[in-house]
Amino acid sequence: MPKVNNFFQGEKGMELTALDWLLDHYIATEQERFQMVADLGLKSGDVVLDLGCGPGLWTPLLAEKVKPEGRVVGIDLSQNLIDYAVKNLEKEPLKDIIEFQIADFSAIPFEDNTFDAIFFSNCFAYVADHFKVLEEQKRVVKKGGKIAAKDFDGAIIIFHPIDPYLQLKVLAAVALALKEKTSELQFDNFTGRKLHGLFLQAGIKNVSTTTYAIQKLSPLSSETKRYISGNAEWYAKIGAPYLSEEDLHQWKAHFDPTSDKYILDLKEFYFCMLEVITIGTQ
Ligand SMILES: C[S@@+](CC[C@H](N)C(=O)[O-])C[C@H]1O[C@@H](n2cnc3c(N)ncnc32)[C@H](O)[C@@H]1O
Repeated sequence: MPKVNNFFQGEKGMELTALDWLLDHYIATEQERFQMVADLGLKSGDVVLDLGCGPGLWTPLLAEKVKPEGRVVGIDLSQNLIDYAVKNLEKEPLKDIIEFQIADFSAIPFEDNTFDAIFFSNCFAYVADHFKVLEEQKRVVKKGGKIAAKDFDGAIIIFHPIDPYLQLKVLAAVALALKEKTSELQFDNFTGRKLHGLFLQAGIKNVSTTTYAIQKLSPLSSETKRYISGNAEWYAKIGAPYLSEEDLHQWKAHFDPTSDKYILDLKEFYFCMLEVITIGTQ
């Protein structure tokens, strides 16, 4: 079984698959998630695959749409995240229609034509062979069933009132750093924009795409502060080799609560990023 892509694991600093950050991300964007799940158009009785489910934070939202006769199966390669998902299930009212398994999303351990819908959230960024993973999804979804992928696009992210020029330098440094990584360190920070084309190229039918602007305004909850700081920390960590010490210092100071440059308590604070969902049918 292949290892979970660990580009952001075991190194110093923020990891985008880190459980704490995924939990803060979940709480900070809960309302937006409700809307996104509503827009998937699931119906009662559907059998859904939550592919690359991580800690299973979306799974109960999907179960809510397919209850009482439907079912949701979450699979992920990370033992740590599946352990969390299973433990969390104990207090979940819909636990009887949810199950979790450890499995690889490029070799899905289910028969052909098993699912009415597949939800693949924030995972394409880690996938080297997009079409292999989409072919697997087409195989296990029923004829006429839905395939939905969600990903963010890291090129459009606003942290106001940071100087836009500093912000563009940080974004450019991240783009350069990711471009120069070898294929075994696969991570695509610009996946959102590619989903629609990937679905069309993979022969998925009735493809439609919606882009959601995730905005966070003052006053911020503590989870939202950690979610935004985690994002900023990740940008600093990845872009660091291509930034001057001064730029890096200034960027970090904006997210350091002990600095007079700290922005997360300012009334004029504005954060915005894009999440993209593409849906099609088999
Ligand atoms: C950013 S997390 C997204 C988790 C969840 N879908 C969400 O949106 O909260 C990406 C997930 O992909 C999982 N993953 C990476 N490579 C995988 C593979 N080959 N098979 C299954 N899961 C994988 C990681 O363990 C991680 O849980």
